Parts: sequence; structure tokens; C-alpha cells
Amino acid sequence: MSSEHEIENLSHESRSFAPSAEFSKSAIAQPNIYQDSKANRLEFWADRARELDWSKPFTQTLDWSNAPFAKWFADGELNVSYNCLDRHVEAGFGKRVALFFEGEPGDTKVYTYLDLLIEVKKAANVLLKLGVTAGDRVAIYMPMIPEAIIAMQAVVRIGAVHSVVFGGFSADSLASRIQDAEAKVVITADGGFRKGKASALKPAVDEAIADGKCPSVTNVLVVKRTGQDVAWNSSLDLWWDEEMHVVENEHVAQGFNAEHPLFILYTSGTTGKPKGILHTTGGYLTQAAFTHKNVFDLHAAQDIYWCTADVGWITGHSYVAYGPLANGATQVIYEGTPDSPDWGRWWDIVQKYHVSILYTAPTAIRSFMKIGSSVTKHYDLSSIRVLGSVGESINPEAWMWYREVIGSSKAPIVDTWWQTETGAIMVSPLPGITHTKPGSAQVAIPGIEISVVNDEGQEIQAGHGGYLTITEPWPSMLRGIWGDPERFKETYWSRFEGKYFAGDGAKLDEDGDLWLLGRVDDVMNVSGHRLSTTEIESALVSHPFVAEAAVVGAKDETTGQAVVAFVILRRSQLDHIGSEADTSKILREHVAKEIGAIAKPRTIFVVAELPKTRSGKIMRRLLRDVAEDRPIGDVTTLADTSVMDTITGRLNDGASD
Ligand code: WTA
Repeated sequence: MSSEHEIENLSHESRSFAPSAEFSKSAIAQPNIYQDSKANRLEFWADRARELDWSKPFTQTLDWSNAPFAKWFADGELNVSYNCLDRHVEAGFGKRVALFFEGEPGDTKVYTYLDLLIEVKKAANVLLKLGVTAGDRVAIYMPMIPEAIIAMQAVVRIGAVHSVVFGGFSADSLASRIQDAEAKVVITADGGFRKGKASALKPAVDEAIADGKCPSVTNVLVVKRTGQDVAWNSSLDLWWDEEMHVVENEHVAQGFNAEHPLFILYTSGTTGKPKGILHTTGGYLTQAAFTHKNVFDLHAAQDIYWCTADVGWITGHSYVAYGPLANGATQVIYEGTPDSPDWGRWWDIVQKYHVSILYTAPTAIRSFMKIGSSVTKHYDLSSIRVLGSVGESINPEAWMWYREVIGSSKAPIVDTWWQTETGAIMVSPLPGITHTKPGSAQVAIPGIEISVVNDEGQEIQAGHGGYLTITEPWPSMLRGIWGDPERFKETYWSRFEGKYFAGDGAKLDEDGDLWLLGRVDDVMNVSGHRLSTTEIESALVSHPFVAEAAVVGAKDETTGQAVVAFVILRRSQLDHIGSEADTSKILREHVAKEIGAIAKPRTIFVVAELPKTRSGKIMRRLLRDVAEDRPIGDVTTLADTSVMDTITGRLNDGASD
């Protein structure tokens, strides 16, 4: 049996949900958008770009002559911050709320578009005063507070390039990112509030730049958030507030070339060294704004939009700091964790601000599912009309729970597939058009061309599985890896001739809808059969006993790889669950029933927690270490570094099956 044949036989959902006629009628995206984009793809994108304000209009849409280095709208000029702020104020929307900020301790702050514009202008003047000029890099290491967005907007307003480093990264990771980008200024805060406590940030910056490790840094700007004590280096450190106080309110934004660098965002690859993914100005904003408006059906004057991502990740760039502001949206930002002070916090925020569009990650959805609807039922979630999912495949059970419990069985769910590298959403249903299927990301958005190919790079047919590739350049594509053009070509363009390889496995169902199967390094090969970790996890989670599951391929002498599963059992079911050996047997049979005997896990470990990064991604590498019975690797990027001790300690006690 070929490996493709195996994928073909894997089960998938056949349910689908049609949009309501009422939703479709007033939806931003109308069905002709697909034909229009196909009829003239480049003109379609040029028209989208023209919805922005260009200080110098472009005459050329795409220059692909030096592939894979694309130039979009190359002779045009625009200012991203002007497009996100000034133009809305000039159009008379200065009083519209841009940000509702909810601090974890319960403090709040509201910024209108005019307020935000003034803050960004002042911050731009502060940076200019510190000698930051167009093209210079600025590192941002902040909690999820309005100043993070103000800082990002201010940096790009003056044509400088930001590198936002997620606040959960260590001093070492911060240092290597500052060094790689040779950042001139670091913007940080004393700390932020997380899980009911002040969590310090400034010490990591101090440590990162200590002993001359980051000689490029000439100043550190510090926002006072928690009021905790900070060590002070008077030759570098400046309080944000004091600097903001003494600069002018006025700053006239100048246009920059469409291909001017906008930001760098580091993402981990298969090697140890993180890659600085480079995005540029015009194409990035075009696709971030277009997708934000059409995929989430944003009606800017009415909707309250909330994306729960931190600005430290690409989702927090495209769908917090840029897309929503470019579209004049009103959005909520929240500083803390979903369980602070209790698991009702998010739903309290939805109720309080009447959130109508919610964009979050499957891992969060599954956590809420685990807690159960006893929490959500205390809140009025009736304002919600569109739900989004991003970051990993959403298993059908979580999708259904999201739909029924959060979306009152009416809000369309958009499962959006994209990457740091793609800059914006690439594959997703469009609400009001697509008949959504639980667990499928479905189709390329208008203007995007994808192809699922086999090992030889040939397009596969509906009903088969293979590798997800992107076959035509797109406006918000990465323009390279900072300082390493060769690595850019090698990583993304060498596997399949002329195609961008995304690193994800995918299959097309009989309708031609796309189902993501996880990174190909997460696709296992058992006795020559290709199996997806995602699909087995999904099967496990579909059993009533299981709250969460992670599957890895462990080396196996006989079969090449073997399926090893780690499961967290559902608290509410504990009374019905027998011994661990029985549970394991039941779950193995369940997987066999759902997918086939080939997919049955060799071993199932019952655990209390799974090792996750702060962004919620399961660290399969660490689970593979456990499964293959070798010392656990580097755990520093885990949200909770003690999780692996708990797992291995328990297993060594002989508690596993
Ligand atoms: C995965 C996050 C399935 C995928 C925006 C991709 C998804 C990687 C989905 C990029 C989805 C993201 N369904 N898988 N809807 N969205 N992924 O760079 O493996 O943090 O390659 O960007 O996340 O992760 P990144």
C-alpha cells in the first residue's frame, strides 16, 4: 500500500454548515470575488492595494524577474502608520475607539483613533530624538499593553524596522535576536501582569545587553507598567513616559517605497538558529488589510474585534497591530492569561465589550472545552457573530464546541491557515460564502494559488494527501531571511521547483477542500505508511475520556516509526474511567476504529500536562525524547519548564502503561 493510499483512507468530517441567508446578504465578501480574482489575479491585488492611501501611486504590480525575491507595487510609496491612523482621523473617524485595553488586574484604558495617532506621533518623535532613522532596527520586548502597538506603529512611521521579541523569551534568545538584527534601540517595560502577578521584563533586557553583548544598542526605552523596581543603567536607559512628555505632538508621516523593510520577526526552523523573517511595506499591508476585512467580515463601524494573540507573534502583527488599524476597526486587547482571576475572564471580556469577532487558537479552545461549559454559561456571548481559529489544525470536536458553545450554533467559523512567512491568511473559508466543514481550512483565499503535491512535486488529485505548496507569489510573502538570502532559497524554494514549500502536509477531500495534516516533520512513517499526528490526535480527542492529546512518531526497530500518544483525561469523566491499562486499551481500539489499525498508538501515556510553548504549540520534540527514552532536550521555550519533570518523574515511578 502506498503512503498516499493511507492518507486517502483516513477519515474526515463530511458535515458542513451553510451560511445563513441573512449573513450572506450583508457579508463584505460576495461570491463573485473568487471569479474576479481568477480573471486577473494581479489586477485583483492591484485594486486591493489601491484601497490603501499611496503618497506616490504605483504603476507596476509585481516584479518576479528575480524570483524567489518578489517586488510588489515597487515604484509606489506609502506610509503604513499614515494608513493605519492619520487617514481615518482625516476621514472624520478620530472619535472612533481604536483600542479597548483590558489590563489583567482589571485596569482599563480606551484610545480613540485620534488618541492613538497623537501617541504614535509622539513616540515617533522620541525615536527620532534618539537618532533612529529609516532602515534602523528597533527591538520591542513588551507585555500586551497599548504601548506595544504604539511602539510598533511609531517605528514603522519613521521607516525604521521593528523586531518584536515575545515577552516569554529568555534573555539569551532576546540577545541573539538583537545581535542578528543589530538593533539600535530596545523598547521594553518594567514588567507586565500575568497570572495575578507582576512579571518582570527589564531584567532580561539588562542581561541580554550586559557585558557589551549587544554593542549596537544605544538606548533602552522603558514603559512603566507594573511599577516594580528596576535596575537602572543611566548611560542607556530612559523612561518612556518622561521622553513622551517632552516631545512635540506633531509628526508628518512621509511615504516609503513599497519594498522598504517593515519588520523582522524571528521564527524557529528545523535548525537551532531562529530565522529573521523579513516583511516589507506595501504588499504586506495590502494583504493584511484585505484578509482582515474579508475573512472576518469586518464592518468597521459596528464590529468589536478581538484577536487574543500577543504582538510577539505574527498573528499579533497582522491581526492586531496592522490589519485592524488599517481597516479602522475597534478592537480589544487583553494583557493577561485566560484563567486570571478564573476561567471566566475571556467570556467576561466578550460580554463587557460586546465582542462580535473573536480570533483565537485551537489550544485555547480545547482548554476551555476541558473546563466545560459550566464556566461560559454564566456569560452573555450573544454579540459574537464570527469566530476565527489559527495556529494549528482545529480538531472537529473542538470546532463543534467552539461553534455551539461560543458561537451559539450560528457564528461562522473561519479556520485560517498561514505562517509567519506568508505574512497574512492564505487558506480559509470566507464567512457568508463558504459552507464550513469542522476541521478543514478549506480553500485558498481569492488571489492565492496553492497546490498539494506528491514527493515528485506533481499535483495530487482530490481525495489524496501530500505537501502544501504555494505556486504564485503573493503580496505579503516574506522577502527573505534577514542577512541570509541563501537560507531563504534553500529553506522554502529548493524542495519543489518553482514552488514555495510551506512545510505542512495536507490532503484534499473529494470536494477539493484542504485539510492540514501538521508539519511534515510531524508526519510519521509507520511501516511505510504515512500517518498524521494531527489526525490521530483528533481521533483520540473525539473519545469522551480525552481532553487533550499529543502524538509523536518514535523510532521503532520493526516498523521504522511507532505512534506514541500522550493524553490528558477529562476531569468530568474520571469516575467512569477504569485502570490506566484499560484506558489505554479502549483508546487504542478507538483510534483503530476511527482511522484504522495502522494508526493505533503503540504506547499511550496518561499525563497531567503537555509541554507547550508560551504561544501554545505543543513541543513534540520533547515528547519524542520521552517516547524514545532518552534525556530530555532544551526546555527553555516552554511556558512551564517543570512540565517535563512532572511527565518523566511520573513515568519513572512506573505509573504509565
Ligand atoms: C500551523 C501562525 C493547521 C502550520 C499564523 C503552519 C496551521 C504553522 C493553521 C505556522 C491552521 C497555522 N491549520 N495548521 N489553521 N495555522 N498552522 O509561523 O503548521 O507561528 O506552518 O504562524 O502553524 O506557524 P506560525
